[in-house]
Amino acid sequence: MKKLIRIEGIPNFAASIYSFIARKNPCIKDIHKEVVDEVSLNIYSGRILDVGTGPGYVPIEIVKKRNDLKVTGVDLSSKMVKIAVKAARKARLSSRADFKVANAGNLPFENEYFDFVISTLSFHHWSKPAEYLKEIHRVLKKGGKVYIYDLRRDTPKEVDSEVRKKYGWFLSFLLLKIIRAHSSITVKEAEEALSRVDADFSKKGIESRGVVIKLYFIK
Ligand SMILES: C[S@@+](CC[C@H](N)C(=O)[O-])C[C@H]1O[C@@H](n2cnc3c(N)ncnc32)[C@H](O)[C@@H]1O
Repeated sequence: MKKLIRIEGIPNFAASIYSFIARKNPCIKDIHKEVVDEVSLNIYSGRILDVGTGPGYVPIEIVKKRNDLKVTGVDLSSKMVKIAVKAARKARLSSRADFKVANAGNLPFENEYFDFVISTLSFHHWSKPAEYLKEIHRVLKKGGKVYIYDLRRDTPKEVDSEVRKKYGWFLSFLLLKIIRAHSSITVKEAEEALSRVDADFSKKGIESRGVVIKLYFIK
């Protein structure tokens, strides 16, 4: 993914704006719900790592849904981590949803610590996806899964018109034009990124569903 300017950690002022938008915007809320439902269905028990967790909404919703799980969110932005810690405290879920400032390329966890690693709407920020996936592979248990979700930019026309039908012109303009213009990947970019991953996953692939692309790996 070649970009002229790539900001990995979201700046402080943008962290507050993003967390507000993500809490209110039905399109982002629906993407988060889809992730929460799918991840909750695909993990038997254990610990989940959320990379680029932002305001922590996905981890908090997962532990609300499944009281046998623990989720740790990491983010480069200390402001995002502060917002996430506060949200978990408010929901009285801090014992099962905790957050740390960390870079995906240098995760402060021992080898094979997590049963599942997820990431939502963060992959397009990553400057070294292959390196980060090697690090994710290190902290993942054998047999563990990785689901990385991001917005798809090169959607077919039918998908865009479905989005317009579902959310109306204003919200779909925000999602399809404004947000997607700088925060998304194409299928080709996802395929290229996948082909550069040399960590020893037993399975890897890409799924595309509506405006979401999912990269998945099994160790
Ligand atoms: C658009 S936000 C998405 C936040 C959240 N996952 C969500 O779905 O609402 C992307 C987040 O990824 C974080 N991020 C980007 N690169 C990162 C990296 N290399 N390591 C950790 N976090 C990163 C940014 O700081 C930002 O908070």
